[in-house]
Amino acid sequence: MRVATGAAPGKVILFGEHAVVYGRPAVAAALDHGLGAIAEHSERGPTLDIPAWGPKGLRLRLDGQEGLDAIGRALAAALDATEVGRPEVAVTIDGELPLGVGLGSSAAFAVSMLRALGEFRGAPFERDALLAAAGQVEEVFHGTPSGIDHTVIADGGCLRFQRDAEEPFRAVQVAVPVPLVVAWAPREGTTREVVAALRRRHDAMPELYDGLFDAMTMVTEAGVRALESGDLEALGRLFDLAHGYLNACGVSSLVNERMVTCARDNGALGAKLTGAGAGGAMVAIAPRAPARMVSALFAEGFQAFATTLSASET
Ligand code: PMV
Repeated sequence: MRVATGAAPGKVILFGEHAVVYGRPAVAAALDHGLGAIAEHSERGPTLDIPAWGPKGLRLRLDGQEGLDAIGRALAAALDATEVGRPEVAVTIDGELPLGVGLGSSAAFAVSMLRALGEFRGAPFERDALLAAAGQVEEVFHGTPSGIDHTVIADGGCLRFQRDAEEPFRAVQVAVPVPLVVAWAPREGTTREVVAALRRRHDAMPELYDGLFDAMTMVTEAGVRALESGDLEALGRLFDLAHGYLNACGVSSLVNERMVTCARDNGALGAKLTGAGAGGAMVAIAPRAPARMVSALFAEGFQAFATTLSASET
């Protein structure tokens, strides 16, 4: 029996979420928490199992594309991109990444599944083909994704992204390991809804919101410099600034404010919401006692883990 595996990390946006939709730069980094996929021969296939998602796990059998939800259509898109037709394959995906809170679960789902399917067919994906295929799977979830999620998740490390720049994706050389705590709570709206609501506020007062996005751009560029020089104190201050601007944009919520405040009260050098906001995830710079910060976040009813953004290998 053939068994093939694939893995992919999650991601965290360090700077520039929302502003990136308006052509400004953003910075994202791969996490060391992620998903793993197993593809194995099964006469019942194609099937997909994700025991970690949903109260009873998620299980589906692909008999055709009609009437399937997004996850089923994503499996179909991955099989199409792998050009294996509808093989007798059972895919199982598991790991430590929560679904739909802005930590890259859908892109990690796509990349880990494609890696396993590539190995299953006997021809692992080359990088560019993997990126193209992951983009097709991401489209099922996100319509027109910017590409930053699946690019940073496929490549690892830390990336600066700016849509219309001459070089849209540029690796950021992280000088020292960056200790992070990531926390999350259920979302109060989808990314699409939060982005659309900000678009309405922007269009009613474009010059004011464009001014905010310009200020966020300065924070993002200063963030790149702080990552490249290994200045954790500066990174912390810049996280606080970034969060303040996101709050001014109206994408924070009481839950985000509580997570950020809890992190700051427990030794964070700085903390911000990450991703779309309206609940979802928070990231903090946590060089001291990260386990205590994680416990404090749990005590307030949030999920959290401590992790480290690795220094770049150069
Ligand atoms: O889906 P999330 O939570 O990772 O957030 C996406 C980031 C946004 O800038 C809010 C939207 C986008 O398409 O870049």
